[in-house]
Amino acid sequence: MTKSLVSISDLSKEEILALLEKAGEFEKQPNQRLLEGKVVATLFFEPSTRTRLSFETAVNRLGGRVIGFSDAKTSSQSKGETLKDTIMMVSNYADLIVMRHYLEGAARYASEISPVPIINAGDGANQHPSQTMLDLYSIYKTQGRLTDLTITMVGDLKYGRTVHSLLEAMQYFNPTFNFVACDELKMPDQYKRFCDKLGIKYTETTEFSEDIINQTDILYMTRVQRERFSDLMEYERVKSIYTLRASMLENSKDTLKVLHPLPRITEIDQDVDDSPKAYYFQQAQNGLYARQAIICRALGIKG
Ligand code: CP
Repeated sequence: MTKSLVSISDLSKEEILALLEKAGEFEKQPNQRLLEGKVVATLFFEPSTRTRLSFETAVNRLGGRVIGFSDAKTSSQSKGETLKDTIMMVSNYADLIVMRHYLEGAARYASEISPVPIINAGDGANQHPSQTMLDLYSIYKTQGRLTDLTITMVGDLKYGRTVHSLLEAMQYFNPTFNFVACDELKMPDQYKRFCDKLGIKYTETTEFSEDIINQTDILYMTRVQRERFSDLMEYERVKSIYTLRASMLENSKDTLKVLHPLPRITEIDQDVDDSPKAYYFQQAQNGLYARQAIICRALGIKG
C-alpha cells in the first residue's frame, strides 16, 4: 500500500511512533538497498538546502534514483505549464514525488490528482510534515520522551510552517507551549483554537525572557519568513526582534536543547553553536533518517 504525506494530521499517533522507530533503525543502518529500481522525483518550486538534499541523500543511501528540479525556472512551469500537468507528467517517470511549493494547499491538490504518492516538503505557510518528523525524532532522542515537555516557540509563528506542523503533532503528548512572537507574527488563531479544543496548555507573550527559557525543555527558534511578506518594510521592522545568545542559556535546564529548522539568519547568535544545548545541526542530520522512514512508508516498503 502506498501513502502520501501532506499534513502531519494525516498520521495517527501510532503511525508517528512507528515512523520514529523506523528512523531509529535507519540511523543505525542508513545504507540499505530497499529502493532498488525505484525513482523518486524532487520538485522544488521554492528554494531549499536541507529538505531537498536530505530527501535525495535518503533515496541514494537506499539504492534508489532521483530526478527533478531545484529551481522551477528551469522547468516548463516557466512556459506556463500548470501544476496539474507537471504532476501528471512526472508521475509517468517516478514512483514517488517529493514537492515543495509556495502555495498553501498545493501538496493536497497534487495528492488528489497524482497517480503516485506525494510527500509535502513544505507548502507556503501551511505545513512541513517531514520537518516535524525529524523534529519529533530530535526531541525524543534528546529528552528520552515526547510526553509532558515544555516547548517554547520563538520568532515567526505566523508564517512558520514548521511550528504549525509541530504544534499539531504534539497533540498526542501533553505538551505545554510558550509562544514568543511580536504582535505582527503571533501564532494564528486557528492553532490557538486547536490547543483550546484539545486542552493543550499555552502561554503567549512578546517578551523573550530568561524566565521562560529557564522553564523550557525544547527551545524552538525560527526565522522570520521574508518570502511570505508582501510589505518588505514590515519585514525590515520585525526581522531581528529576537536573538538567542549563549549568556541567555546560563540558568536553563541542563537537558534543554535549542532546535531550529534552519536556515538561521540572526535568531541564534553564533556564540550558541559551541553550547552543548545547541542541537540544530544534529537536528538537520536526523532529517536523513526520518525521511528514509517517510519514503519507505510512502512506497509501502517494510524493510
Ligand atoms: N528546514 C528546512 O526546510 O530547510 P530548507 O529550506 O533548507 O529545506
